[in-house]
Amino acid sequence: MTKLRSVVVGCGSHLPARCVTNATLAETVDTSDDWIVQRTGIRQRYLAAADETTSTLGTRAAQAALDDAGLTADDIDLVICATSTPDHTFPSTATQIQAALGIHQGAAFDLQAVCAGFVYGVSTADKFLSTGSAKRALVVGAETFSRILDWEDRTTCVLFGDGAGAIVLEAREGEGTSADRGVLTSSLRSDGRHREKLYVDGGPGSTGTTGHLRMAGKEVFRFAVGSVTDVIVDAFEATGTTADDLNWFVPHQANRRIIEASADKLGIARDKVVLTVDRHGNTSAASIPLALDAACKDGRIRKGDLVMIEAIGGGFTWGAALIRW
Ligand code: ACO
Repeated sequence: MTKLRSVVVGCGSHLPARCVTNATLAETVDTSDDWIVQRTGIRQRYLAAADETTSTLGTRAAQAALDDAGLTADDIDLVICATSTPDHTFPSTATQIQAALGIHQGAAFDLQAVCAGFVYGVSTADKFLSTGSAKRALVVGAETFSRILDWEDRTTCVLFGDGAGAIVLEAREGEGTSADRGVLTSSLRSDGRHREKLYVDGGPGSTGTTGHLRMAGKEVFRFAVGSVTDVIVDAFEATGTTADDLNWFVPHQANRRIIEASADKLGIARDKVVLTVDRHGNTSAASIPLALDAACKDGRIRKGDLVMIEAIGGGFTWGAALIRW
C-alpha cells in the first residue's frame, strides 16, 4: 500500500567562526584539557559572536540545506526550529528564520524539547508531511547555549557550544515498507519528574531573567545510558529492522562516553557511530543536524542508508527516529 514518506532532500549546517579549545578555556576556568577529554571526549567548541543569535545561525544552516536540496524559499511550507535559546521570548525563532529566508507561505513555529528538540522536530514534521498537511519542511536545530551558561561553573560551562543544522524533508510517495526512503518511524517520550536534574534557573514566568543552566551530571549520565534505549528498541520493532541493518547511528552529541555506552548496549558497532562531540561540544538541539551534515559532506551517509537518530534532553525528553536517507 502506498504511503506518504518524509524524504530528506537536503542538509546543511553553520558554526560560528570563533573556535575555543579546552586549553583556551582553561585560561579562565579552573579546568584542564585532560579532564574534559577524559570525561567527555570534547576537545573544542564554537561560540557565537556578539552579533550572532540563534536565528542568524539557524538561517545560515537552513539556507545551506535549501541550497543542498536545490530548492528556494517558495518551495517550503513548514519551518520548525528546535531551540531552547530563542532570540526572544516571542516571536518564535522559526518565524525569524522564515522571514530571513524570504518564505512567506505556510507555518513556522519553535519546538522546545531541549537536546531532544531535533528528533521531536523531525517526528512533528513527519506528521505534517505524511498526512498531506504540508509538502516540504525545513527542520532546524539552532542554539546559542553560551548565553545560558554560568561561566563560573566549571561543571557545566566546559560541555556546551553554539551552532545550527537543518534538513529539508519532502513528502513523496513510498511503498509503505522499510525499503522506502524517508522517515520510517519515530518514537518520543518525556517524564517531567526529572526536572531538577537538568534545568535553567530562570525564565519569563518565574524570575523574569534568562537564567543559567544547572545540571546534576552524574544523574543525567545514568539516565541517558540506562533508560533512553527504549525509543531505539521501539524504532527497530516498528520497522522489523535490527542494529545490524543500520548504516549509521547519529545520536545527540553530549558526551563520548554516553554515546559509546549506548551503542554498546544496543549492539551497534562503534564504526557505525557518527561522533562530532570532540569538535562541536554539546550544541543541544543543533548537535544531530550538525553531525548529519558532517557525515553527509564527508561522504559517509549516502542515499538509501539506514540512519538512526536519537537524543535525550532536559525534562527529561527523549526520542529516536529511523530514516532511510
Ligand atoms: N574541570 C576539572 N575538574 C572538574 C570539572 C572541570 N570542568 N568539573 C568537575 N570537576 C571535578 C569535580 O569538582 C570533582 O572534583 P572532587 O572529586 O574534588 O569533588 C571531580 O571533577 C569529579 O566530578 P564529577 O561530577 O563526579 O565528574 P564525573 O565523572 O561525573 O563527570 C560529567 C562529570 C562529565 C558532567 C559527567 O557526569 C557527565 O558526562 N554527565 C552527563 C551530563 C551531560 O553530558 N550533560 C549534557 C547535557 S544533557 C544532554 O545533553 C542530554
